[in-house]
Amino acid sequence: MKTSTIISITTFFLYYLFHPCFTTDTLSPTQPLSENQTLVSASGTFTLGFFTTTNISNNRYVGIWYHNLPIQTIVWVANRQHPISQSSTGVLTLTTNGTLIITSIQHNSTTIIWSSTPPTTTINLNNNPVAQLLDNGNFVVKNQLTNDVVAWQSFDYPTDTLLPGMKLGWDFTTGLNHNLTSWSSSGDPSPGDYSVAMDVRGDPQLVVSDRSVRKWRSGPWTGFSFDSIPEMAAYTRNGFNFDFVNNSTGIYYSYEVSNRSIITRLVVNHTGKTERFVWLGQSGWSVFWYTPRTQCSGLDSCGPNGVCGLFSSPMCRCLKGFKPRSPRDWDLLDGSDGCVRKEPLDCLNGTDGFLKMTAAQLPDTWSSFVDQSLGLDECKAKCLMNCSCTAYANADVRAGGSGCILWFGDFTGLGAFQSGQDLYVRLAASEFASSGKKKSVNGVVIVIVVVIAVLVLLTALACTAYCVCRKKKKRRGNGTGIDHHNHEDEMKDEDVELPIFDLSVILEATDNFAPENKLGQGGFGPVYKGKLEDGLEIAVKRLSKDSLQGIQEFKNEVMLITKLQHRNLVRLLGCCLQVEDRMLIYEYMPNKSLDAFLFDKEKSASLDWQTRYQVILGVARGLLYLHQESRVTIIHRDLKAGNILLDETMNPKISDFGMARIFGGDDSATKTRKVVGTYGYMAPEYAMDGVFSVKSDVYSYGVLVLEIISGQKNRGVYLSNPDLCLLGKAWDLWNKGEILELVDSSITSDSYSVSQVMRCIQMGLLCVQENPKDRPTMSSVVFMLGTSNVVLAQPKQPGFLAKRGSYLSTSSSNQEPSHATDTLTILEGR
Ligand SMILES: *[C@@H]1O[C@H](CO)[C@@H](O)[C@H](O)[C@H]1NC(C)=O
Ligand SMILES: *[C@@H]1O[C@H](CO)[C@@H](O)[C@H](O)[C@H]1NC(C)=O
Ligand SMILES: *[C@@H]1O[C@H](CO)[C@@H](O)[C@H](O)[C@H]1NC(C)=O
Ligand SMILES: *[C@@H]1O[C@H](CO)[C@@H](O)[C@H](O)[C@H]1NC(C)=O
Ligand SMILES: *[C@@H]1O[C@H](CO)[C@@H](O)[C@H](O)[C@H]1NC(C)=O
Ligand SMILES: *[C@@H]1O[C@H](CO)[C@@H](O)[C@H](O)[C@H]1NC(C)=O
Ligand SMILES: *[C@@H]1O[C@H](CO)[C@@H](O)[C@H](O)[C@H]1NC(C)=O
Ligand SMILES: *[C@@H]1O[C@H](CO)[C@@H](O)[C@H](O)[C@H]1NC(C)=O
Ligand SMILES: *[C@@H]1O[C@H](CO)[C@@H](O)[C@H](O)[C@H]1NC(C)=O
Ligand SMILES: *[C@@H]1O[C@H](CO)[C@@H](O)[C@H](O)[C@H]1NC(C)=O
Ligand SMILES: *[C@@H]1O[C@H](CO)[C@@H](O)[C@H](O)[C@H]1NC(C)=O
Repeated sequence: MKTSTIISITTFFLYYLFHPCFTTDTLSPTQPLSENQTLVSASGTFTLGFFTTTNISNNRYVGIWYHNLPIQTIVWVANRQHPISQSSTGVLTLTTNGTLIITSIQHNSTTIIWSSTPPTTTINLNNNPVAQLLDNGNFVVKNQLTNDVVAWQSFDYPTDTLLPGMKLGWDFTTGLNHNLTSWSSSGDPSPGDYSVAMDVRGDPQLVVSDRSVRKWRSGPWTGFSFDSIPEMAAYTRNGFNFDFVNNSTGIYYSYEVSNRSIITRLVVNHTGKTERFVWLGQSGWSVFWYTPRTQCSGLDSCGPNGVCGLFSSPMCRCLKGFKPRSPRDWDLLDGSDGCVRKEPLDCLNGTDGFLKMTAAQLPDTWSSFVDQSLGLDECKAKCLMNCSCTAYANADVRAGGSGCILWFGDFTGLGAFQSGQDLYVRLAASEFASSGKKKSVNGVVIVIVVVIAVLVLLTALACTAYCVCRKKKKRRGNGTGIDHHNHEDEMKDEDVELPIFDLSVILEATDNFAPENKLGQGGFGPVYKGKLEDGLEIAVKRLSKDSLQGIQEFKNEVMLITKLQHRNLVRLLGCCLQVEDRMLIYEYMPNKSLDAFLFDKEKSASLDWQTRYQVILGVARGLLYLHQESRVTIIHRDLKAGNILLDETMNPKISDFGMARIFGGDDSATKTRKVVGTYGYMAPEYAMDGVFSVKSDVYSYGVLVLEIISGQKNRGVYLSNPDLCLLGKAWDLWNKGEILELVDSSITSDSYSVSQVMRCIQMGLLCVQENPKDRPTMSSVVFMLGTSNVVLAQPKQPGFLAKRGSYLSTSSSNQEPSHATDTLTILEGR
């Protein structure tokens, strides 16, 4: 007893000599920490000490918080469940055997209310332990002489916060499962109902649970990110490094920041909200990412075999080859019963094929099978060998894809995203056989004359020959003679016929292009309303005759555009070709175009904020599809209110898309001789120099957004009267902090969400930046609209179009250049 005390005292002095600041970040057995003391890490990042949570009770806890932030932010709590009560005094002590204890002293009685897990005896602390608060927020116990082996650390016992460097998941070296557990309430650190943990069943994924009920899952790690958080890749550019480890050391997720000045934490809130915060100086903590946030939780929103659409309405749908289990509920927009197969699989005969679904959020992987060593072909073969296997996908999407995940039986949690990976779903052979005969353009077929029928027949024959050739090639390729696995290829080549209308049909439908049937004049020619014999209403656009394009190119274009199908694009039904005349036949939109509503005093009152927001969102999705998600990039070049048509439910549809391609010639050219477009919507670089790109469409979109919000037209008159320049006005109001003045007076102020309107305006201003590089892409726009907590960049002065060479300059500002091209700009909060 005596000797040990002497050793302690000796080491204490030795330590004191060599570590003059020892009281700041370390705790030794001889120096317990009392309530009025704290430890501060070497560079002053974190503090360890006693804290109270509320002024209601005077309970105290030992915890760690940021040392130099004005808001006390607790990141770790030792005695979550056993606070030091009002009438007692607490002391934190390090015992000589390396255990940390908190004692509560009340009158003359002392009780140990908390103790850390004792270090295993194999770690030799030699009775010389020291506990140190490190600069990353980790509180470690180690041998003060050898100083390397950590006997205990707070990072192994996370509470509700994951700091950079902490592990979330299993650590096989310590046998510990690191998970986050929420506080019970904002003032009570005792473990609450919610947890974030690594579910290692099947393909590992993070799961947020309410007690034992799963509320959200991240999907498996796909190489760059978790499957359902593709935007993680974008964070990497902002200094985050995410890591997922699966090897003999453990299965866990962790992250680091490359720049120490980024202060960030991931926290599960007592309401189950899991949020990543970033400290933004004076603005305080800003939510950078959070979950759950979408209707598609990745669990059972759409039942077995259902597909949840991130931005779609209705939210649930069935994959091809499946039908709703209870159609009545589906009609009522309740898809939770899921889908069933139309045709049973025929495993024994081995005729099943696979439907390729792109941009999928993978189904729940907890019961899946993973093999990182298999490629996609082996994966498919393995799936076909097991009759209960229903889908497969790559496990790692890096470098073209590798690894294999197999699903068995019904799958749940499948989502359709803007981006995602390919999923192959097993379907009965008959589903593929029927796709050739599929819906032969109802009603339209009747009007196709014999000549065209022959043409179609020839095309069909050619196609068949082509397919046969291809199959033969494949057969030769793999040498097995088995071709029933190649159905997925056939799936892609549906609807090959080019719907051509006969002129007489069009003449009859439009009453010989009667003036009363004229709907308007588009950028490329007049538009007429028509009605086919079977009652289908159509809109016929007569293209101006001065097109230089040959007939074959025209056909190719039309064929391409006919294949574009999106909820927010007007459907092209076909075309009509005459020597002198070319016509495009579209579906007819009863509510006409947006400008008819927006710029009309009476009608604009019927556009409430919700409708306007739907239009903003719908147009963004349509444009995103044109730019990025269809087979080719299509630049609209004439996006404006007059080209946004509204269907009977006021769902917006972009019309005239693809015209740019038809008239602009080859799409690699970014310069055009003839500038088509509408003054007021044209990006400066396009109007002046004829340079166009997807970013010139983004500019037009930004103008449109501001018009939708303000109900005012962005007119082509600038220097003479700045008030008429919507962009100038918006920029002025933005700088004055009175941006809500811009909102159309017909929208009552209690009917909209201020934050939503503000976001839309900010996003609109970002879209009209002068430098195309500063404008976001449409995918960023859709992301900004869909994710309310992403911090948007600060807009700079918009690019105004004035007389050639001169730009209108309003209040000059010396703002830093921003990075609007990145969706996420963390260091530029508002
Ligand atoms: C801190 O508290 C301890 C015990 O409660 C007391 O002995 C000591 O004097 C206090 N120190 C200061 C600086 O208040
Ligand atoms: C707790 O303190 C805050 C700020 O000092 C005060 O506004 C609040 O009323 C207090 N609550 C109670 C229950 O005393
Ligand atoms: C370490 O010390 C604490 C308190 O003195 C005691 O409860 C614990 O059993 C000891 N552990 C070992 C492994 O000796
Ligand atoms: C505490 O102990 C002291 C001396 O041992 C004694 O005089 C005092 O009465 C005790 N107080 C209580 C509340 O037990
Ligand atoms: C979290 O970790 C603790 C301790 O390792 C464990 O008992 C608990 O089951 C884990 N919770 C979840 C949801 O995995
Ligand atoms: C938890 O999240 C809710 C929203 O779900 C929020 O209102 C609340 O302020 C959050 N609480 C804390 C302590 O962050
Ligand atoms: C994790 O690692 C083990 C062992 O190397 C391997 O068998 C397993 O397939 C891996 N799982 C995933 C999801 O990568
Ligand atoms: C496991 O992965 C981690 C992180 O990539 C690495 O540091 C460690 O060396 C790996 N361990 C083994 C045994 O491969
Ligand atoms: C880290 O971020 C700060 C603040 O944004 C910046 O000033 C500093 O230059 C960055 N350091 C490095 C090494 O990137
Ligand atoms: C397998 O194919 C044969 C011949 O095509 C057919 O008669 C039989 O019904 C099929 N078996 C199953 C299980 O569908
Ligand atoms: C198919 O896979 C399931 C799930 O892994 C397994 O239980 C079953 O035994 C397999 N069947 C065959 C025939 O391999």
